[in-house]
Amino acid sequence: MPSAADHRIPPDQLRSHRWFGPDDLRAFGHRSRAKQMGYDTCEYEGKPVIGILNTWSDLNTCHTHFRQRAEEVKRGVWQAGGFPVEIPVMTLSETYMKPTSMLYRNLVALEVEETLRCHPIDGAVLMGGCDKTVPALLMGAISMDLPVIFMPAGPMLKGHWRGETLGSGSDVWKYWAERCAGNLGCDAWNELEDGIARSPGTCMTMGTASTMCALAETLGLSLPGASSIPAVHSAHQRMASACGRRIVDLVWGDAKPSTLLSSESVDNAIIADMALSGSTNAIIHLIAIARRAGIDLTIDRFDELSQGTPVIANLRPAGEFLMEDFYDAGGLRSLLASIGDLLHLDCLTVSGKTLGENIAGAEVFNPEVILPREKPLVESGGTFVLRGNLAPDGCVIKPAAADPKLRKHRGPAVVFADYNDMNARLDAESLEITEDSVIVLQNAGPVGAPGMPEWGMLPIPKRLLEKGVRDMVRISDARMSGTSYGTCILHISPESAIGGPLAFVRDGDLIELDIDARRIHLDVNDEELARRRKEWSPPQPRYRRGYGKLFCEEITQAHEGCDFRFLHAGPVTPEPEIH
Ligand code: FES
Repeated sequence: MPSAADHRIPPDQLRSHRWFGPDDLRAFGHRSRAKQMGYDTCEYEGKPVIGILNTWSDLNTCHTHFRQRAEEVKRGVWQAGGFPVEIPVMTLSETYMKPTSMLYRNLVALEVEETLRCHPIDGAVLMGGCDKTVPALLMGAISMDLPVIFMPAGPMLKGHWRGETLGSGSDVWKYWAERCAGNLGCDAWNELEDGIARSPGTCMTMGTASTMCALAETLGLSLPGASSIPAVHSAHQRMASACGRRIVDLVWGDAKPSTLLSSESVDNAIIADMALSGSTNAIIHLIAIARRAGIDLTIDRFDELSQGTPVIANLRPAGEFLMEDFYDAGGLRSLLASIGDLLHLDCLTVSGKTLGENIAGAEVFNPEVILPREKPLVESGGTFVLRGNLAPDGCVIKPAAADPKLRKHRGPAVVFADYNDMNARLDAESLEITEDSVIVLQNAGPVGAPGMPEWGMLPIPKRLLEKGVRDMVRISDARMSGTSYGTCILHISPESAIGGPLAFVRDGDLIELDIDARRIHLDVNDEELARRRKEWSPPQPRYRRGYGKLFCEEITQAHEGCDFRFLHAGPVTPEPEIH
């Protein structure tokens, strides 16, 4: 990949030159307005204009360091001879956005694409990290296809409480179950609240944020090692500045995502996902990302590649440690080097080098955190794709997060028609449920909820928690937080709200789960299912106007990546006319 020393793009062919270069009325307006901001022409003339897309917000707790990081990116851009412009884009706060940030992933992707298109921008640094910000930024940038670098927010520090180390999400669910079971008092619970989120940065378990940032790096869209650096480490500031320097080179070299992404780099990302025991959400996001690049990725590829990939990251929720430990153990470069023989090492990356060159020489400094190949956490199979009459287009489970005794199970369904129904009846004395029951939640998918919230770790009734039950088979068309765990069958496709078979399950129906055989079966004969289908009518749409209506009309199913149909890869969108 070219460096600044061997420019391929002459300055007068920079995209931004169309705005600033010509001797005409429009360019006069653009230049005079740059002067209005205090910039002389010589400060940007003939230089790449670098958009710094900043997802900072006071309501995104994971990105609170981004105002400072944007300054560090700018520093790097100036150093390399570019012209930085910071542009706020909508953030996606996993914590505060309701009903779910997933409802807005595609909106941000659309905003990113059009923000890049309509402005005089030659390349961009994408600042994200909190769950859906990563796919949203990447999807938009890939569709626009300008040179970009993804700058990950970095994980927050480890949590602490009463001498214990706490992990985001995972320990919340764990201790909430203890609180529901009556084993944890108010004081202890309040102290836990004080100690679980101690710094800026993303969830420090191997949740969706850590997974997606690692996959962005493996795809070749972040600088080597960037995704593992804790948010408050000084190396993170230096990485931000390096992003600024590097993006200028990428513009001169015209290194667009389309020159970096391929089915091989996508396979690399899947293999990394499996070795990390990454979030199940990554399946949906990676399918959407790949399809934006014109790569027809299916869920079956995840199952195929998971079979040959050992889980070697000993990170919660599947394992023991947290992201800070992972960084100290060598981080993603060391993990990828450990499975180098499984990867396509000749894939190009934004560093200007191949993936193989990026990870060459990386060592593991703590083999308890990044496990040796011969002693993996799980031999293979980080994610399984199941099929059957309940999920003709597939569904997923993370076997490592499930109770081993539930890998093969047959039990009667206890069905909830939607999330509110579940909340209203789950703890009712009249509910007939045992630890052998299979909890089923309907209408929690992309259209049904809508937005496919992370409701998939369905709660266990209080009276069973009090008896010591901590896992049951749970089935839904929802997603699950990457920090969650349990025998949770997710992403049932097609979903119930559009007439998928999940809609026709009734209380007491027997459901058979055989994880190793990749099978999920509703033990009801075809005639009866056809009768139920005939009686069924879809739920009333929740939104009759606005973005919610657009979302429900255009969203695809989980196995297709939940992108909007009109945003899939297709004919090239023309550049804006400047007049
Ligand atoms: Fe932002 Fe978890 S809440 S990454």
